[in-house]
Amino acid sequence: MPSTESSKIVAIYPGSFDPITNGHLDLIARGSRLADRLIVAVLQNQRKTSLFTVEERVEMLQEVTRPFPNVEIGSFNGLLVDYVAAREANFIIRGIRAISDYEYELQIAHMNRRLSPGVETVFLMAAEAYSFVSSQLVKEVASLGGNVAGLVPDLVERKLKQRVAETK
Ligand code: PNS
Repeated sequence: MPSTESSKIVAIYPGSFDPITNGHLDLIARGSRLADRLIVAVLQNQRKTSLFTVEERVEMLQEVTRPFPNVEIGSFNGLLVDYVAAREANFIIRGIRAISDYEYELQIAHMNRRLSPGVETVFLMAAEAYSFVSSQLVKEVASLGGNVAGLVPDLVERKLKQRVAETK
């Protein structure tokens, strides 16, 4: 029996994605196999200063997730649980690289469940090859002229080089 729209499993993978790394992309590939639709959601209302605008991040995400037909890119303001409800999503996906991530993620997951008791968070262990990769470190290395090839998609590597050159 074909599944109806309302019976489809929808997952949300939220984050800053400033910019997307190959670690994120690996999680998107794996997460896209756990749901009928995976919505990658960029947080808009950040206090921390970002290198790329939300629009630029969304554009990069759209480009690099083109091979995954069931992945769509969105952005949200305010509480994640409200966005989860608005998109009628079934669960949240987050990645864990190390124990240090676990403590932060545990807090977020507990808070989200308190705010909205039905919302589950599914954690995926980051691929070993990317377990040390973060957007923050990638930005730092790129801004100091280091090589980030293989840590981010090629498009992102080019955008990082451009942005670093512009801000010098
Ligand atoms: O990539 P990041 O910066 O680790 O992602 C953090 C994110 C976006 C998942 C988290 O900050 C978030 O969900 N913010 C939305 C505001 C919110 O819902 N806060 C309450 C739960 S922590």
